[in-house]
Amino acid sequence: MNILLTGGCGYIGSHTAISLVNAGYDLILLDNFSNSETCVIDRIQKIAGKPIIFVEGDLRDSNLVSKTLKDNNIRGVIHFAGLKAVGESVKNPIDYFDNNVQCSISLLQAMIKNNIKKIVFSSSATVYGIPQYLPYDENHPTSAINPYGRTKLHIEEMLKDLANSDPEWTSIVLRYFNPVGAHKSGNLGEAPKGIPSNLMPYLVQVASGYLGALNIFGSDYGTRDGTGERDYIHVTDLAEGHVAALQFMFREQGWHAINLGTGKSTSVLELVHTFEKVTNKKIPLNLTSRRAGDLPAYFAKVSKAKNLLNWEAKLNLEDMCLSAWQSRKISIHE
Ligand code: NAD
Ligand code: UFG
Repeated sequence: MNILLTGGCGYIGSHTAISLVNAGYDLILLDNFSNSETCVIDRIQKIAGKPIIFVEGDLRDSNLVSKTLKDNNIRGVIHFAGLKAVGESVKNPIDYFDNNVQCSISLLQAMIKNNIKKIVFSSSATVYGIPQYLPYDENHPTSAINPYGRTKLHIEEMLKDLANSDPEWTSIVLRYFNPVGAHKSGNLGEAPKGIPSNLMPYLVQVASGYLGALNIFGSDYGTRDGTGERDYIHVTDLAEGHVAALQFMFREQGWHAINLGTGKSTSVLELVHTFEKVTNKKIPLNLTSRRAGDLPAYFAKVSKAKNLLNWEAKLNLEDMCLSAWQSRKISIHE
C-alpha cells in the first residue's frame, strides 16, 4: 500500500520510513530539504534495503502534491513537514503560519481533489500549554503558548472540522513528547542545521568536543533536582507508533488525538548523568538562567495509545543516549 510521507527526509520522518518499509508499506517521500540533507535518501534506502520514491518540492505547491498523490496511487498520508523551532516561531510567526498552516491547507486540498481521506499528523505536547494537571491526558485543555504551538493547534482543528464535515475522513493527530536518539545502525539521526536548540543534539556536540559546555537552562525549578523534566521517547519507538497509527487509521473513522510518550519524566541532570554513564564521557556543565517559554515539567499519560493502537514505548533512557551518541557523525554534518 502506497503512503506519502511529507517531510520524510527529516529526523522523525526518516526513522518512520524505516519502520514502515519493515512493516511492508511502499513509500513516497516529499521534502524541500529546508531542514534536511539529500544524503538522507541514500541512508534510508541503504537501511531499508530497497529503493524509495522521492519527490523534491515544497508542500505549498498544491499542484505538485496533487500530481504526486495521483501518479503514485497514494492511499494515505503521514504529514511530518513543518518548521519546529519554538524560539524562531516567536521571532518569525508569519513564516510559521505560512509554512505549517499553509502547507497543511495545500496538502489537504490536494488530498480532497484526489479523494484521499486518511491522514496521520505530527502534533506536539506543546498544544497542552501550562499544565492544569499531570500527566497530560488527551482531554487536557489545549492552549498554545507560542506561535509554533498555535500552528499545531490550528492544524489539529482544521483536521477536526474536516472529519466533522465528512464521515469518510480519518485524522490521527499524534502528540509527540520529546523524541531523542537514533536508528541502531548509527546511519540516521537528528541532524539539525546550525547550533542545536534541543537538549540531546546539543549534548552530543558537547561530548564530541564540538561545543564547549552544556548550558542547563534553570536549576531552580520546583522539580526533583531543580532542572526541567520532560518525557523523552526513543525515535525508534516513536516510528513504531506511526506504524500502529497507520493501521488504526485504515480501520477507523473520525478525528483522534493520541499522546506518544513513555509516561516517565526525566530531568536535564538525570539525562546528562545517564549519557555520561553509557558513553563514558564527562560533560562540562554551566548552570544558567531559565529559557524563556520553558515549562518546568510535563509528561504523558500513555494509556490511550496502548488501548487504541496496542503500542507502547519499549526503549529506555540508556538506549536513547547511546544511540544518539553512536549517530554523532551524522549530527555534526560530516
Ligand atoms: P525535521 O525538521 O527534522 O523534519 C521536517 C522535514 O520537513 C524536513 O526534512 C524539512 O526539510 C521538511 N519540510 C519543512 N517544510 C517543508 C515544506 N514546506 N515542504 C516540504 N518539506 C518541508 O523535524 P522533525 O523533528 O522530524 O519533526 C517532524 C514533525 O514533528 C514536525 O511537524 C514537528 O513540528 C513535529 N514535532 C517534532 C518534535 C521534535 O522534538 N522533533 C516534537 C513534537 C512535534
Ligand atoms: N535544555 C537545556 N539546555 C539546552 C537545551 C535544553 O537545559 O541546551 C533543557 C530545556 O530547558 C528543557 C529540556 O532541556 O527543560 C528539554 O528541552 P528541549 O529544547 O530539548 O525540548 P522542549 O521540551 O523545549 O521542546 C521539544 C521540542 C518542541 C516540542 C516539545 C514537545 O523542541 O518542538 O519538545 O514536548 F513541542
